[in-house]
Amino acid sequence: MIKTIKLKNNILKTRIIIKNKSISDYLIKISKSKKKIFCIVDYKLKYLVNKLSYKDNLNFLYLKGGENIKTNRVYANVCDQLLSKNIDRESILVAIGGGTIGDLCGFISNTILRGVDFKLIPTTLLSQVDSSIGGKNGINSKYGKNLIGTFYHPSEVIIDPDILKTLPIRQIKSGYAEIVKHSLINDLNFFSWLEKNYIRFFNLDMKVIERAIHKSINIKLYYVEKDPKENLKDNNSRAMLNFGHTFGHSLESFYSYNKKLNHGEAISIGMITEAVISNKLGFLKKNELNKIISHFKKAKLRLYDKNTKKNNILKNIIKDKKNLKNRVNIVLLKGIGKSFYKRNIKIDYLEKIIKSI
Ligand SMILES: NC(=O)c1ccc[n+]([C@@H]2O[C@H](COP(=O)([O-])OP(=O)(O)OC[C@H]3O[C@@H](n4cnc5c(N)ncnc54)[C@H](O)[C@@H]3O)[C@@H](O)[C@H]2O)c1
Ligand SMILES: [Zn+2]
Repeated sequence: MIKTIKLKNNILKTRIIIKNKSISDYLIKISKSKKKIFCIVDYKLKYLVNKLSYKDNLNFLYLKGGENIKTNRVYANVCDQLLSKNIDRESILVAIGGGTIGDLCGFISNTILRGVDFKLIPTTLLSQVDSSIGGKNGINSKYGKNLIGTFYHPSEVIIDPDILKTLPIRQIKSGYAEIVKHSLINDLNFFSWLEKNYIRFFNLDMKVIERAIHKSINIKLYYVEKDPKENLKDNNSRAMLNFGHTFGHSLESFYSYNKKLNHGEAISIGMITEAVISNKLGFLKKNELNKIISHFKKAKLRLYDKNTKKNNILKNIIKDKKNLKNRVNIVLLKGIGKSFYKRNIKIDYLEKIIKSI
């Protein structure tokens, strides 16, 4: 069954449509306008757009999706190609690919000619439930990930769950970790639903996937609407979306972002670590912690990495500019579905907890 879900969102003015097998039809629809349309497409999805190359106002440019395209060099190169094809202020830029294509193209859309209309077609689970929502874009610097970028919302996000059928299971798990995160920070019922439906989810039952994507996006939007530019410091802050990411990012950086540990795996370990900390500090009941651990085990998400105990992991966390004087601010759980911002945890105390896991 084809299902269309429109999320009405007055503040951000982004139309998000979740609809199976919708990509070609969507491109044909927008090509009927007289505007020049520039589609930046992940090579792996070339087959999707091949048959549309006869359309005069559709221009295609291909990139191999991956972290190494989020650079100054690729940014400048793509801008040059667009300018050489006479992109103008009325043109539309469409990104078709995972989070790396989306992040790069969002930044290009906002900066080229001081901004052109941006449409986003995320094709990985992680990009469908996370990176396509919230307007953050950017490229990496030699000083770190995502350090150069803007907030710029696409006018439309077209989500085709059917496109996930070609995604390797490791990538599906990575996106699933962000879905579980959304349930843990905000919605106990959603977590219980995932406990019941995860097998159907991993078997790519489209009804279950569509529902999980829809729910997940709504939770992310809740924080984005309340705190569009990440200024708040309370429990409605966008920072809640960083649950699992304090330790997760530090672990990714310890592994130098290599293929041994992907983002979803790092934040799965980060979520368990931060849930254990929530429990040891007396916020999260033991039976709730066990429920979380049990789901991670059943869904075969990563729970643990021996390197979490290494001193470098904590050092990286202290280096983070938000953490001053050997005290750490971190998002913790008061229960499943209830996150909050805990300030000023002494680093020695954290170290003791980590070493005891
Ligand atoms: N802007 C944000 O708010 C935000 C949030 C989270 C993550 N991110 C960023 O997202 C990026 C990670 O996103 P990602 O995991 O989608 O990475 P990605 O774009 O590298 O895609 C992962 C792999 O999947 C391939 N692929 C894409 N669609 C496919 C499909 N349908 N079938 C088969 N293969 C497919 C790509 O070619 C690539 O090899 C990171 O750079 C991260 O910083 C941004
Ligand atoms: Zn993440």
